[in-house]
Amino acid sequence: MTALLEVERLSVYFRGVVALDEVTASVSAGGTTALIGPNGAGKTTLFNCVTGISQGTGRIAFGGRDISTMPPHRRSLLGMTRTFQTPALVDYLSVTDNVLIGAQSAGHRGIWSAVARPPAARRSLRAAHERALELLDALGLTRHRGAEVGALPHGIRRRVEIARALMASPSLLLLDEPAAGMDVSEALEMCRWLTGYAAEHDITLLLVEHSVGLVMRLAHTVLVLDAGRLIASGTPEEVREDPQVVAAYLGNDR
Ligand SMILES: Nc1ncnc2c1ncn2[C@@H]1O[C@H](COP(=O)(O)OP(=O)(O)O)[C@@H](O)[C@H]1O
Ligand SMILES: [Mg+2]
Repeated sequence: MTALLEVERLSVYFRGVVALDEVTASVSAGGTTALIGPNGAGKTTLFNCVTGISQGTGRIAFGGRDISTMPPHRRSLLGMTRTFQTPALVDYLSVTDNVLIGAQSAGHRGIWSAVARPPAARRSLRAAHERALELLDALGLTRHRGAEVGALPHGIRRRVEIARALMASPSLLLLDEPAAGMDVSEALEMCRWLTGYAAEHDITLLLVEHSVGLVMRLAHTVLVLDAGRLIASGTPEEVREDPQVVAAYLGNDR
């Protein structure tokens, strides 16, 4: 497998405190790569750097292209989308409208062009709408589709955000704890669905997930961060036997 995302000697400091310390890692195209590590290890910071929200030192390449200094919106036009640890949605819009916003990131076929250039663009708006409804259905959100997002519980908001991210048809989807707050079986169901959908649609997943059991079942590759350093990377089997990982993170939770 070729590397879709490469991070080379990436360092980030917040007021002199290191959040990422010379991290070098890559994500292969296809399949699911999990990013694990204790709280404060730097997982979200890594996502922020990859998507351009935070700046660090070092190099980030996407599809072989250096994106280190590229602004976030251009990175998303190249085909990367993310979800946030705390869902970032437009609270006063409906579920459907929030999901449709995702189509905007899909570039030239975005819904905003439909406003400017009817009628061909109106057709693409209709297609986007159909896709949104399909995604809502697949994520069990149909009965909430007209609801204002701000009034919905956290778990549902999380699924809305995932639907919106998928609307953009990304080649790389970064998911920051998509199953947080769910019980083990819900989390497994959600992540299974996601990995299946991603495989079907040629989407590479980079997934932050706390449940080690779940990661070991679903990921092809596991990256382990601890205190800003990449302490291991490999198959789930390799990583779970790694003495540094066991000491730093897994403990008895194997
Ligand atoms: N905006 C920020 N300002 C200051 N410190 C931050 C900021 N974001 C993250 N940090 C610090 O960077 C470290 C890594 O945080 P984070 O990437 O959120 O970890 P994780 O997602 O693995 O829990 C932590 O020590 C955290 O307190
Ligand atoms: Mg985090």
